[in-house]
Amino acid sequence: MKTFILSSLALAVATLLPGGVTALPHGKRQSENGFVKINEDGTGFTRNDENYTIRGANYWQGINLGADEAWGGDRERMERELKQLADMGVNNVRIMAASEGPDDQPYRMRPSLMYKPGEYREPIFEGLDYLLDAIDRNGMTAVMTMNNFWHWSGGFGQYVAWVTGNETIPYPNIADDWDTFTAYAAQFYNNSEIAPKAQEIFKNHIKTVITRKNTVNGRIYGEDPAIMSWQLANEPQDGPATWFVEIGSYMKELAPNHLVSAGLESKNDHFDYLRAHDNEFIDYSTCHLWVENRGVYDPADESTFKPSIEYGLEFLEKTSAWAKELGKPHILEEFGMARDAFLKPDNLTFKYDPETPTSHKDEFYGTLFNQIVDYAKEGKMSGSNFWAYGGEGRSTDYPTKYGMVWLGDPPHEPRGWYSVYDKDTTVQVISDYNANLEKLE
Ligand SMILES: *[C@@H]1O[C@H](CO)[C@@H](O)[C@H](O)[C@H]1NC(C)=O
Ligand SMILES: *[C@@H]1O[C@H](CO)[C@@H](O)[C@H](O)[C@H]1NC(C)=O
Ligand SMILES: *[C@@H]1O[C@H](CO)[C@@H](O)[C@H](O)[C@H]1NC(C)=O
Ligand SMILES: *[C@@H]1O[C@H](CO)[C@@H](O)[C@H](O)[C@H]1NC(C)=O
Repeated sequence: MKTFILSSLALAVATLLPGGVTALPHGKRQSENGFVKINEDGTGFTRNDENYTIRGANYWQGINLGADEAWGGDRERMERELKQLADMGVNNVRIMAASEGPDDQPYRMRPSLMYKPGEYREPIFEGLDYLLDAIDRNGMTAVMTMNNFWHWSGGFGQYVAWVTGNETIPYPNIADDWDTFTAYAAQFYNNSEIAPKAQEIFKNHIKTVITRKNTVNGRIYGEDPAIMSWQLANEPQDGPATWFVEIGSYMKELAPNHLVSAGLESKNDHFDYLRAHDNEFIDYSTCHLWVENRGVYDPADESTFKPSIEYGLEFLEKTSAWAKELGKPHILEEFGMARDAFLKPDNLTFKYDPETPTSHKDEFYGTLFNQIVDYAKEGKMSGSNFWAYGGEGRSTDYPTKYGMVWLGDPPHEPRGWYSVYDKDTTVQVISDYNANLEKLE
C-alpha cells in the first residue's frame, strides 16, 4: 500500500517535470527494483538476486544542474543528459552529494550546498532531489560522494578553514604546490586540534543527507534503492584507518540497506589500499587511474601512448588482485584521457577544443574496457565509471551568473580536459562496452 501511494505520487510529480518527461524510457524505475547488494562470494554485485555490473559514469555536476535556473541550474539539460547516458547503457552515476563554503572562494562548485557548518541552501538540496528522482526514473543507481579531499567542492580544506577560523586556504593551483595543500587538507582527519570538530560537522552533514526526504518523490534518502552507495570522500589521501571505520560505521548505522565505499584512488601501495578497505564497513573497493596526472602520458607526445596503456592494464591487474585477496568487488571509478593534442602539440587551445578528435582516448577506453569485461567474467572486477560526462556542455560555453561552466571538468581544471561530450566518438566505445557488461547480468 505504501509503495502504491509513493509511486502514484511520484508519477503525478513526473508529469510536472520540464521537458515533458513522463515516460520511463528504460523499463522499471530503480525504486521498483531492490537495493544493490554484494553477492555471496564477494566477487560482485546483485540486484533482485541477479548479477549487477557497474556500467557507470561520473556526473558530479548533476546536483547543481538539477537546481532551479535562478540558482544556476538547468533541469531540462540534466534530464536530457541522463537520458543520453541511459541510451548508452549507463546504469550508475557517481555524483557529489556535498559541497561546502562561501561562494566567494575560487576553483569550486557554486552555489555550494552547505554554505556554513550545518546551514544548507534548500534550492541546491532540491537540485539533488531532482537528480535522484531522474536517476530513479532512468533505472540507474547513484554513488553519493559525501566529501572531497580536493578543493573543487570546498571539501576537507573548507572544513579545516571553518574549524580554525582562518579562511586563507593554500590552493594548489596558485603556485602548483600540491604538497602544501595536501598537508593542509589532511588536517581534517590528522590534526588532533582540528579533527574532532571537523568530524562532528561532517557527521552532521552525513546525517542531514541520509535522513532527508526527497521533495520530488517523497522518499527518505536513506531508504531509496536508487542510491547504491554512500562514499566517504573523493580521493581521501593517507587517511588514518580509524577514520574509515568511524565514518563507514556511522553511514552503515544510518543507512543499513545501502553499501558504503571509501573513494580511494588506490594509487599508492598495498598498505595504503588496506588502510582504507580492510574493515567490515567498506563494502567494495575502488581505484582511480590518471595517466597524464601521474606523468605517464603526455598528450602532446605520441610515443607516451603505448606505455600509458601498459601502465593502465598493470594498474588494473594489481589493484584487482588486492581486491580479490580481500574478497571485495572492485570498480575503476575514475579514469580519463585528453583529446588528441599530439596533432598540434604547441597549441593548448587545441588540446581542450571539443572539435579535436579523441583517437587516443577511444583506444585507451576500449582497451581498459576489454580488460574489465574479461575480469568481470572471472569475478575480479565489476565495472567502471568513466570521467566524466560533459554531455551537452562545451568548454566554450558562457558561464552562469555564478561563474560556472558545467562540464565533466571540475572548476579547478582546464575546461575540456577530460569531458566526454554527447557528440564524441567515445560515446560509441562506451555503449559497446556497456552492452558487453550487460550480457553478464
Ligand atoms: C592563515 O592560514 C595561512 C595558511 O593557510 C597562513 O599562511 C596564515 O598565516 C594564517 N593566518 C593567521 C592569522 O593565522
Ligand atoms: C595521517 O596520519 C596517518 C597516521 O595515522 C599517517 O600514516 C598519514 O601519513 C597522515 N596523512 C597525511 C596526509 O599526513
Ligand atoms: C589552435 O587551435 C585552434 C583550434 O582548436 C585554432 O582555432 C587556432 O587557430 C590554433 N592556433 C594556432 C596558432 O595554430
Ligand atoms: C553471475 O555471475 C557469476 C560469476 O560471478 C556467474 O557464475 C553467473 O553465471 C552469472 N549469472 C548470470 C545469469 O550470468
